[in-house]
Amino acid sequence: MSKYLKDVINILYKQRPDYVSGQYIAEQLKISRTAVKKIIDQLKSEGCEIDSINHKGHCLNTLPEKWYSGIVKPMLQANNVFDHIKVLETTPSTQIEAKQKLVGNSDTFLILSDEQTKGKGRFNRPWSSSKGKGLWMSIVLRPQVPFNMLAKFNLFLALGIRDAIQQYSDHHVSVKWPNDIYIDGKKVCGFLTEMVANSDGIEAVICGIGINMNHLPEDFTGELQQKATSVKIHAQSEFNRYEFLNTLVNNIEYRYNQFLEEPFATIRDEYINASNIWGRELKFTENDKQFYGEAKDIDEDGFLIVIDKDHNQHRLISADIDW
Ligand code: BTN
Repeated sequence: MSKYLKDVINILYKQRPDYVSGQYIAEQLKISRTAVKKIIDQLKSEGCEIDSINHKGHCLNTLPEKWYSGIVKPMLQANNVFDHIKVLETTPSTQIEAKQKLVGNSDTFLILSDEQTKGKGRFNRPWSSSKGKGLWMSIVLRPQVPFNMLAKFNLFLALGIRDAIQQYSDHHVSVKWPNDIYIDGKKVCGFLTEMVANSDGIEAVICGIGINMNHLPEDFTGELQQKATSVKIHAQSEFNRYEFLNTLVNNIEYRYNQFLEEPFATIRDEYINASNIWGRELKFTENDKQFYGEAKDIDEDGFLIVIDKDHNQHRLISADIDW
């Protein structure tokens, strides 16, 4: 890939909907017009719709199904949460990458990748992260709060992700406590929250978010056909991944500030209404213990109240739920 590719797309993106001449791009980047033409051809072959007209130049019509830092960074600049943003083509896992990058500094940041080769889910389960299909990202935040606030943070984050996906879906989007987002009974997103803490409190929170974005029904094989879905499958219309990312980050920013300023009680009703776990028999796995029961409520501290088959009450801060 030409090292100027991201600069070319950045120039085209900034000038939209105007045309930009090859000469102008060549001068800006101090490269030849032939080199500019080669890069434009490459972008077109990658799925960027670029109109090219003789003596007028090039105009970017649709954005590529690929993350370009030249688009992502300026687009997310308005948000105040992240000190920096890193865009990768491939990585074993944005979560592993984020954990390495947070050491020895106090930066907040976002890492996004087109593909993960060793994506991981909760309980170290493998997380399939094919190229171009999903939104695979990790964010590192530095809330100055005691570490027992982490579970609450997760509840605020869940609403941020849910709200973002809902803006693109014609079906109801719900939260499956504690870490999944569902559309029509199928999982569209899983997220996990990890932390680095010392006795004074949290040093960093690392949230890994995996959203099935562009999958078609045939992309899900085996048992996933019944269990997984994507934003595209439920989208009201064509959507572009960059706008979706922007919406997601704005919603996360909103909920993060709310988490820092408000108690869980502020969002409790909203969270309960967004949840899809009520009124059904559930199987709970908490560490190595399993039991069946029904979820009854979420209390003011964000704990899930469950009554098991023997009528015992459980107050859970995290668990794995199946139905
Ligand atoms: C789950 O449902 O088990 C959580 C899945 C979290 C997947 C995301 S994708 C981006 C980040 N990098 C990873 O390796 N995992 C998280």
